[in-house]
Amino acid sequence: MQLFTLFGYPVTHSISPRLHNAVMQGLGIDGCYIRTPIEHPQTLLPTFRKLDLSGANVTVPHKEVAFAHCDEVRGIAKEIGAVNTLIKEGTRIIGYNTDAEGFYAAIKSFGHLRNALILGAGGTAKAIAMILKAHHVDVTILNRSASRLDFFEKLGFTCKTWETFTPSSYELIINTTSAGLKDESYPCEEALLNLLFEKAHYAFDVIYNQQTPFLRLAQAHHLTYKDGKEMLLYQGVLAFHLFFAQQYDLKTIESLMRPVFEL
Ligand SMILES: NC(=O)c1ccc[n+]([C@@H]2O[C@H](COP(=O)([O-])OP(=O)(O)OC[C@H]3O[C@@H](n4cnc5c(N)ncnc54)[C@H](OP(=O)(O)O)[C@@H]3O)[C@@H](O)[C@H]2O)c1
Repeated sequence: MQLFTLFGYPVTHSISPRLHNAVMQGLGIDGCYIRTPIEHPQTLLPTFRKLDLSGANVTVPHKEVAFAHCDEVRGIAKEIGAVNTLIKEGTRIIGYNTDAEGFYAAIKSFGHLRNALILGAGGTAKAIAMILKAHHVDVTILNRSASRLDFFEKLGFTCKTWETFTPSSYELIINTTSAGLKDESYPCEEALLNLLFEKAHYAFDVIYNQQTPFLRLAQAHHLTYKDGKEMLLYQGVLAFHLFFAQQYDLKTIESLMRPVFEL
């Protein structure tokens, strides 16, 4: 039997085991996907080897550690500096980032974009900024503080803090902060968000399965908007695709994974 897991801390809330187990069951694969809480980052890769895993996903707060310690990093993960998928290839552990491609698949229906504003500057913002850049979208980063903007500045992104920002026109506004996850707060001042939404066409919130204040305001402005559910779905589809050396096609994986969200 092949074993897969989700590494993170905490991991109790995650839907990933249900997503991956449903697909393995549907395809008749002898495999199991579990959760493994990792408190100390240095134990992540040794635990991968000790459990003799075929693959794993990595979530908060270990994506950077996974990036630093796997044997090889492939694809856009190299630019993001964070890994959310680990695959065993012989004796080596290979790292990938499917959050970025997952996000891009989720916004495909928005069509071609010229520019976007990302609210927040954490790990998720990095993945989203890099994939948008790869698709020639002009990206501006707006963060509460300056502390995390270095990464983006070095790569040539326009970076602003709440103090230095002058609102302009952006087609897509993306919330990558956790504002609104457990409270009723906006990721920036409500008045500023009103200004931005007046000129925007699309809004995206990485928070999933809930209508955040950010998305409610986007709806009030009649924008086309999405929460993070599809991003989560597609990062899972792409991870599964990698887990099994791309032998199952993406559409089949998606068709088996998607119903889990409706349960
Ligand atoms: N849908 C999906 O598939 C998916 C995938 C990955 C992550 N996520 C979600 O993405 C969210 C962010 O994750 P992350 O790992 O990027 O987090 P992170 O690395 O901790 O980054 C958080 C960022 O948000 C800002 N921030 C936090 N609280 C804020 C608030 N109340 N108001 C304004 N800014 C605030 C921080 O600003 P400072 O720098 O000033 O502190 C920081 O830039 C989480 O909710 C996570 O669940 C969703």
